[in-house]
Amino acid sequence: MNKQGLFFLAVMLVLFSSCRNSTDHTEPSQMAFKITEQSWGTIQNDSVVQYTLTNPQGTQVSILNYGGTVTQLWVPDRKGELGDVVLGFDSLSGYLQKANPYFGCLVGRYGNRIAKGKFILEGQAYQLTLNDHGNTLHGGLQGLDKVIWQASKPAGDSSLKLTYTSKDGDQGFPGNLMIEVVYTLGSDNALQIAYSATTDKATPVNLTNHCYFNLSAGKQNTILDHEVMLQAEKFTAVDSLLIPTGQLPAVKGTPMDFTSPKKIGAELAAVKGGYDHNWVLNRKGNDLEKIATAYDASSGRLMEVFTTEPGLQFYTGNFLDGTLKGKWQQPYQQHAAFCMETQHFPDGPNQPSFPNTILKPGDTYRSLTRYQFSVK
Ligand code: BGC
Repeated sequence: MNKQGLFFLAVMLVLFSSCRNSTDHTEPSQMAFKITEQSWGTIQNDSVVQYTLTNPQGTQVSILNYGGTVTQLWVPDRKGELGDVVLGFDSLSGYLQKANPYFGCLVGRYGNRIAKGKFILEGQAYQLTLNDHGNTLHGGLQGLDKVIWQASKPAGDSSLKLTYTSKDGDQGFPGNLMIEVVYTLGSDNALQIAYSATTDKATPVNLTNHCYFNLSAGKQNTILDHEVMLQAEKFTAVDSLLIPTGQLPAVKGTPMDFTSPKKIGAELAAVKGGYDHNWVLNRKGNDLEKIATAYDASSGRLMEVFTTEPGLQFYTGNFLDGTLKGKWQQPYQQHAAFCMETQHFPDGPNQPSFPNTILKPGDTYRSLTRYQFSVK
């Protein structure tokens, strides 16, 4: 190399190293994370935006600021081909229709049912809005799934933060509830959801997410052949309107037993209406623990669920009946997908023996769930 060439090389080296040292503090694995935004229209005067988070492997999750709704989740199968493993719609109008069965959304203030929408707290009786056969389901008529959240992007391009303040009296709940939800896509193909909330009056809180999963990415019309494991020896028995009776029967030797992996369809017919119950999770402590798995042998996709919550609503899409047209105009038939909603137990505020769901001023509600995807 001549003198000129050496000089050029030296200048380039200096420029390169100063550039990396002064402006680029990103880890190489972080460099390929990206977030893009797409307008999905407006509701009244608010813009609805879809945020798409992509990790270095190309795994992708799209989330709306409307309801914090996961609209798409693209994960690889055993051949490395990406497929969208959640049910949903192509446009906002799909999500706004009355028949939308909570596809992909955040759920609250109280995920699952509160009997007759009533509870007594600190000597005062409260009445919530009713939306499910005289009971309150998933926070009432206008729950957190039907509001616009404030979105921001914490550093790193792998997370989306959503915040919302539910006003004192919203759907009948006491207290101003300040809620924060952070969705994070890991480089290990995990989707993590971190929930936190504070209040200025004692109030019940039970937040969750309502993704409907089909790990074959729609190649199988139902999830009846998916194999599921639930780390739970008991479940909360319910009446005909799915309100807990207070009893916690053992699953052993019954169709509710998923302590070892079993096909969803193996004994579903023996459960009236299909699976739509809260399993009482076996937990070692309060940290994030693996409590469930779902595996689709046709694609090789495995989903492992980790949570800090004491319960899991395992719902097998029993109320889907083929009338609802989803993405690409596909009709979603019964059992087209399953939900694994990590949560406190249904009707907690009226069941003193269930884990506490009352958040008090000065305390912070925290809940963490991770859906980890891989193949086998
Ligand atoms: C409930 C089902 C309900 C569904 C809403 C689930 O969490 O347990 O009973 O139909 O949400 O689509």
